[in-house]
Amino acid sequence: MTTHSPFGDSTLAFVRDGYAFILRRSERDHTDVFTTRLLLMPFVCLRGEAAAEVFYDSERFERRGAAPPRAQKTLLGEGGVQGLDDGAHQVRKGMFMSLMTPARLRDLANLTTAQWHAAAVKWEMQPQVILLDEVQELLCRAVCRWAGVPLRAAEVHLRTADFAAMIDSAGAVGVRHWRGRLGRARAERWAAGLITQVRARTLTPDEETALSVIAHHRDGSGALLDEHTAAVELLNVLRPTVAVALYVVFTALALHDFPEAARSLSEGRRAARENFVQEVRRFYPFFPFAAAKVRRDFEWRGQQFLRGQRTLLDLYGTNHDRRTWGDPETFRPERFQKRKGNAYNFIPQGGGDHFQGHRCAGEWMTIELMQGALRFLTEELTYTVPPQNLRVNLRRFPARPASRLVLRDVRRSGLTAG
Ligand code: HEM
Repeated sequence: MTTHSPFGDSTLAFVRDGYAFILRRSERDHTDVFTTRLLLMPFVCLRGEAAAEVFYDSERFERRGAAPPRAQKTLLGEGGVQGLDDGAHQVRKGMFMSLMTPARLRDLANLTTAQWHAAAVKWEMQPQVILLDEVQELLCRAVCRWAGVPLRAAEVHLRTADFAAMIDSAGAVGVRHWRGRLGRARAERWAAGLITQVRARTLTPDEETALSVIAHHRDGSGALLDEHTAAVELLNVLRPTVAVALYVVFTALALHDFPEAARSLSEGRRAARENFVQEVRRFYPFFPFAAAKVRRDFEWRGQQFLRGQRTLLDLYGTNHDRRTWGDPETFRPERFQKRKGNAYNFIPQGGGDHFQGHRCAGEWMTIELMQGALRFLTEELTYTVPPQNLRVNLRRFPARPASRLVLRDVRRSGLTAG
């Protein structure tokens, strides 16, 4: 069944199919490229490995002005790396990637493990925990410590709530959207204050920390970032790290829903954990698509791309492309044993090159945090999953289990409570 409005607009189909919107249409029409209107705005939609390769060609696409204004007011902010191109993007992206050394990723992993242990002590004394909320908070504590950002105990809840509101507002209207705007406004003021203090030397974080690196970063012309932009970039490190909580919850959901796959982890091998985490990132919905604008006119597979045209690359649909994955709707971590996926067919956090293009700066960090969470959940904790609504609604952005995953009887393995 097709769902078109009288204006040739696909908004209704988009609302109905959610994450699967581009995938369904392209499978139905046997094409990796089609044009449509969403909320009356024209878009070109792309899906699949070959399309991703075209989308990440910076000669053909640019990012300036590509982000939806509503997302800028909430999730992304204005002036950040996501909207830069060419040399300006390279310099700014280099700043982010300089934070992602193996040693710094290990530091974050260790800080996060310590937070898991502290949280588990608390959870043992509670009748139940809501995993999403708890992991958001523990990641907020860990990433702030790692980033050199001071966080008083009394402040943790507010900061976590603001990050969570920004993340949850990504595809929302109404109250959720406004909560996200409020969260962003307050978080930007706070982050700008931190940048000011570092520059005034009233706050002196270690020089390898994100706060120090961003406060002292100079753009291509040699100038410091203005305070607002520096604040947006600091939030571009803190906020998405808190968002990894969604992936942690999907990891716990997969352990619950796919016990056979969970058993393959019992030997505690790192490779098995790695495959499991990759399959979680492939299987579950997170970012539905990446957005760009056509930089210069070109043609691909019979479709004319005209300068300025808004284009969406289907991340979810490419990770569920049966030409690549065979049985995309089956959760099967072993698939990553044989083939690892490449830069264009496995793109939960964008495709292409981390340094040259717009692929997620925090992808390695995400994988590290997910592996740590998986290890902790399977080797350091026991818990039960009581009956609850675990349904993942593909029409909600960002998707998550409806209950946010409630755990009961949480115990540290080998220890008794009290
Ligand atoms: C929670 C899991 C995460 C997901 C699903 C995710 C997903 C994405 C996606 C889809 C993009 C855009 C790719 C594109 O436009 O082509 C992106 C960009 C980005 N991500 Fe992530 N991300 C995650 C975690 C992180 C983390 C932990 C960081 C922390 C440093 C981070 C920092 C960034 C930055 C700075 C960009 C902009 C890169 C650029 O424009 O060059 N992300 N992410």
